[in-house]
Amino acid sequence: MTGSLLVTGGAGFIGSRIVAAALESGWRVRILDSFRDDVHASPPSIPDGVDVIEGDVADAVVVDRALDGIDVVSHQAAKVGLGVNLDDAPDYVASNDLGTAVVLAAMGRAGNRRLVLASSMVVYGEGLYLGSSGEVRPAPRSAADLAAGVFEPRDPGTGELLRPGFVTEDAALDPRSVYAATKLAQEHLAGVWAHAAGGRVAALRYHNVYGPGMPRDTPYAGVAAIFRSAIERGDVPRVFEDGGQRRDFVHVDDVARANLAALDWTAEQPEATVRAFNVGSGTVTTILEVAQALADTIGGSAPIVTGDYRAGDVRHITASSDRAARELGWTASVPFADGMRDFATAPLRA
Ligand code: UD1
Repeated sequence: MTGSLLVTGGAGFIGSRIVAAALESGWRVRILDSFRDDVHASPPSIPDGVDVIEGDVADAVVVDRALDGIDVVSHQAAKVGLGVNLDDAPDYVASNDLGTAVVLAAMGRAGNRRLVLASSMVVYGEGLYLGSSGEVRPAPRSAADLAAGVFEPRDPGTGELLRPGFVTEDAALDPRSVYAATKLAQEHLAGVWAHAAGGRVAALRYHNVYGPGMPRDTPYAGVAAIFRSAIERGDVPRVFEDGGQRRDFVHVDDVARANLAALDWTAEQPEATVRAFNVGSGTVTTILEVAQALADTIGGSAPIVTGDYRAGDVRHITASSDRAARELGWTASVPFADGMRDFATAPLRA
């Protein structure tokens, strides 16, 4: 199924790959992007045939113009990452939540009812853990445990250290950083809108996305780009905690394909449908393994495990993406070893 697609954040790391995939599938594509200097040091290249509107998603006049003639919206514009400290909070809320509210209000005015929303695995907080008595929701890790190098979360009742499991979309939502809170608020706003306006929303909860064009080493960048930048500079990649943090690294082209599958899905749903989908590769790796894979390919110093930790980081986050396979017909196809090998030498975003 094709038509006219608006991709907000369409010049960004993930948005630009969605644009490329959508063009290939025959969509007419418009992007709305702020081209913020702190994200785009140099002007990004936009494929031929794409209609470009420069402006902020929080600017209703611009968004009204961007929605003219559009069938479906892929809302990717967001401020990402863990950030520096709470001083970042207003900018996260403005970019992510005010921006989403403005887009939804404009979709209401335009009579546009189909939305694919970029969400995140961070909405689950620590996700699913298992203890001796079954599933447990851990409390945030204590400063004392972290300082003592005890990194696994504990059972809040018994104090027992827990083992990680795979979260499904029905798991409790428990954002633990400003970014996570804004991503969950986006989902909630979209849900309210779907019920009020008869909309259909697919919220894609991305795992750790990596691949060509990933933003470089900033406080807002993902760890794969941070390690890669360090190795390139001749520095040692610094692995926090004990390196055993489990994540699922999913290639940006797989994420783009998940978005296309979700666009199609929105066409088939009854009114007022909201559904979340985990988008992961299904392969679990540790942060130390990521550092090692990149160091092996690029050469240079082996990673060091520092024992440092960041407030707000979750320990493990791995999910089941079975629902996306069943209902969207999507599974990831880029294996970790191949994707990381290519990523080790791929261009990054300045
Ligand atoms: C990441 C994304 C988040 C996304 C989520 C989806 C970023 C910054 N975060 O969160 O936007 O929604 O995946 O699951 O893109 N680490 C090091 N050394 C460093 C930096 C980080 O060891 O120099 C460790 C961190 O302590 C953490 C792990 O690497 O344990 C992953 O960190 P990071 O990539 O920042 O973010 P996630 O929490 O996985």
